[in-house]
Amino acid sequence: MTRVRKAVLPVAGFGTRVLPATKTIPKEMLPVFDRPAIQYVVDEALAAGIEHFIFVTGRNKGAIEDYFDTAYELETSLQTKGKSDILAEVTRTKPTPGSMSFVRQQAPLGLGHAIWCARDIIGSEPFAILLPDVLVQAEPSCLAQMIEVYDETGGNVIAVEQVPEDEVNKYGIIDPVSRDGNRIRMRGMVEKPPVETAPSNLSITGRYILQGSIFDFLADQAVGAGGEIQLTDAMARQMESQDFHAVEYDGQSYDCGSKLGYLRATMAYARSHPALGDDAQDLIDTFSAARLPV
Ligand code: G1P
Repeated sequence: MTRVRKAVLPVAGFGTRVLPATKTIPKEMLPVFDRPAIQYVVDEALAAGIEHFIFVTGRNKGAIEDYFDTAYELETSLQTKGKSDILAEVTRTKPTPGSMSFVRQQAPLGLGHAIWCARDIIGSEPFAILLPDVLVQAEPSCLAQMIEVYDETGGNVIAVEQVPEDEVNKYGIIDPVSRDGNRIRMRGMVEKPPVETAPSNLSITGRYILQGSIFDFLADQAVGAGGEIQLTDAMARQMESQDFHAVEYDGQSYDCGSKLGYLRATMAYARSHPALGDDAQDLIDTFSAARLPV
């Protein structure tokens, strides 16, 4: 079985739901406590053994490339001042040379289109997709849990989680057939179904391991829910001829694409910070107990 070495991170979106914060800053660069959101997603993938990252970017996303590059003046200054701890933090963000590729999605035509833009760099290998709007706290990492399943089953694997019944219209929703522990067999999936017709309340979390053949199903650029080219529709077609598993992963997801989801993620990552977590928890407790003015 071919190992999953590459991951696609679609980062071209405008961040409309978190404006005006994202007017000049890519939403992936907004800090979640002490680092940009994208760092958590890259760390999740690295923990799962990913070796090459393909960012599907757009206009005004240059800060993401810069973040993963050398910052000469900064590094020299930290070195000269003997600030070795901070220097180590800064240089840790640098990937192995040649392990990141950037490709532009020139128009916001949907998630399926964004993934399709990475087709030449992926080739025919199985690969991972991580939607950077979604941060997942899990141990082992969400993608690592999926790779564990993939190593046994092969085929295609997606992460799912239960959502409140009245929120199914915000997500891709699977149509489950049977369950074996946390593994679920499906007969279909649908993007943002109306609450009344949703096949379940199991939503697609934003983590995927797909065979390279998904590009064949994306090639016709068929338009789906919301007038966009949907990855979910391509997967639903791929499922007719290929093995597909859903994993109800063990962990907690945060939707950083919305203002309150972003706040929730910030609090969660603050209180799990190795050095500052206890103090952050005290701060959160104080605010919630006294309802102090912020
Ligand atoms: C995308 C996917 C959807 C998935 C969701 C997870 O939707 O299309 O299937 O459930 O991410 O966050 P979006 O949030 O980009 O509209």
